[in-house]
Amino acid sequence: MKNEAVEKILITKEEIEKRIDELASKINRDYEGKEVLCVGILKGSVIFLADIVRKLDVTVSMDFMIVSSYGESTETSGQLNIKKDLSTDIKGKHVLIIEDIIDSGITLSKLVEILKEREPASVEICALLNKPERRLAHVDAKYIGFEIPNEFIIGYGLDYAEKYRELPYVGVLKREIYE
Ligand code: IMP
Ligand code: MG
Repeated sequence: MKNEAVEKILITKEEIEKRIDELASKINRDYEGKEVLCVGILKGSVIFLADIVRKLDVTVSMDFMIVSSYGESTETSGQLNIKKDLSTDIKGKHVLIIEDIIDSGITLSKLVEILKEREPASVEICALLNKPERRLAHVDAKYIGFEIPNEFIIGYGLDYAEKYRELPYVGVLKREIYE
């Protein structure tokens, strides 16, 4: 079952499914009677987004962005590069950013700033994974699936050189693949 690039499976398919059910219940309660615009950050979030929206019973719409932070990953002051922006106006809307992982936090902290300038009713973050040890910029994420150690992981949307996104679990990438 395990892909040959995977050192070990960190989070199984079943564990992900169970946690998504829990997160979705929380979102359903918090947004009861409201409409939520789920903003998926391409490409890493697509599998997580596809799974979680199907568990929501609030009114959902979806949009997508491609963003990256300029320069060195240790540079917290740089600009956010928006490669693909939203196709809808978010003014007055409840925005829920769906992300695969919060690593340094630089991308998300800047993205939240930019989206808030567009005067949405609210902006929250739902991230499947969190690597707190790597944090350089402060990010307030209301919904987090799992806290994970500082290892390079792949699967369930996350890639290494655009590969392994299709794996149904989250696994640690073998060192020999990237060293
Ligand atoms: P940051 O929080 O601004 O550092 O950026 C997070 C982005 O880096 C995520 O959206 C992922 O695309 C990518 N990333 C961070 N850690 C990993 C990992 O362990 N595996 C794969 N991609 C990662
Ligand atoms: Mg990525």
